[in-house]
Amino acid sequence: MAEEAHLQVIDKVVQETLDRANVSETDLSAVAVTIGPGLSLCLRVGVRKARKTAGSFNLPIIGVHHMEAHALVARLIERNLQFPFMALLISGGHNLLVLARDLGQYVQLGTTIDDAIGEAYDKTAKWLGLDMRRSGGPAIEELAHEGDAESIKFSIPMKQHKDCNFSYAGLKTQVRLAIESKHINAEIPISCASRHDRSSRADIAASFQRVAVLHLEERCERAIEWALNIEPSIKHLVVAGGVASNLYVRARLDQVVKKNNLQLVCPPPNLCTDNGVMVAWTGIEHLRMGRFDPPPPADEPEDLV
Ligand code: KG4
Ligand code: ZN
Repeated sequence: MAEEAHLQVIDKVVQETLDRANVSETDLSAVAVTIGPGLSLCLRVGVRKARKTAGSFNLPIIGVHHMEAHALVARLIERNLQFPFMALLISGGHNLLVLARDLGQYVQLGTTIDDAIGEAYDKTAKWLGLDMRRSGGPAIEELAHEGDAESIKFSIPMKQHKDCNFSYAGLKTQVRLAIESKHINAEIPISCASRHDRSSRADIAASFQRVAVLHLEERCERAIEWALNIEPSIKHLVVAGGVASNLYVRARLDQVVKKNNLQLVCPPPNLCTDNGVMVAWTGIEHLRMGRFDPPPPADEPEDLV
């Protein structure tokens, strides 16, 4: 279904993008396209379209790594952001702590051993009966304002592991058990819940968010220490990916960064959640360094891609 949805809109989306930017294909200098990680069937729809466009207009093509794009778009909005810098990338599928030494030179300091934080936000939102027409993250962030973040003492993941890896599967289980113990029924949307029920849901949302973010804070503290040992000239921590649009996440990480005399760089929310700008920008960064593939043959058969 996802592949079909991509197929249905890809031509229209590309055309609309060119129209809104008031350019035509002949004005382009290259085509950048996400090659992963992501759903391979959907990625392939994009890659086919990119190769066809690049082939027809004799343009170089640049394959972009989804997570690299999340990190590098920070350099579009903060022109003072030079390598080396650190990046915490937090999305639905990934949790990564990276030391970006130069373009294409990334040292992974930590990753998730199970679920990413965005997945934990989305599941918590679903189990709390929140409106899932948009993603779960913003719904939890909003509901958490009404709750008491200290009311449920979820334990912080991986406290005993003195590394920079992440784990959210255990916190998800703790949340599920808390929801069961309070007899919250996700079938009843929050808009129809009683006052008492709504306040229990808000307490869970706030308590979950507090601990989910404490885990990020703890890992960032350690990663900063590690990274400064390798690259003492680091001045910035970039926080990007969908979850970085969360204002509570930003405020808490800002404290951690300030304590270590670094500066936090967070792209605006529309450049944190998945977007085409970050892919185009990463293409520009690679193009400038001469890293691109030659134009594909204009008559390349689509089923080869
Ligand atoms: O980067 P992204 O758009 O897509 C992936 O690469 O996964 O991230 C999507 C994730 C979803 O899990 C969504 O719930 C989460 O980002 N998200 C948020 C917020 N906005 C989006 N999580 C917490 N608070 C938010 N305000
Ligand atoms: Zn993403």
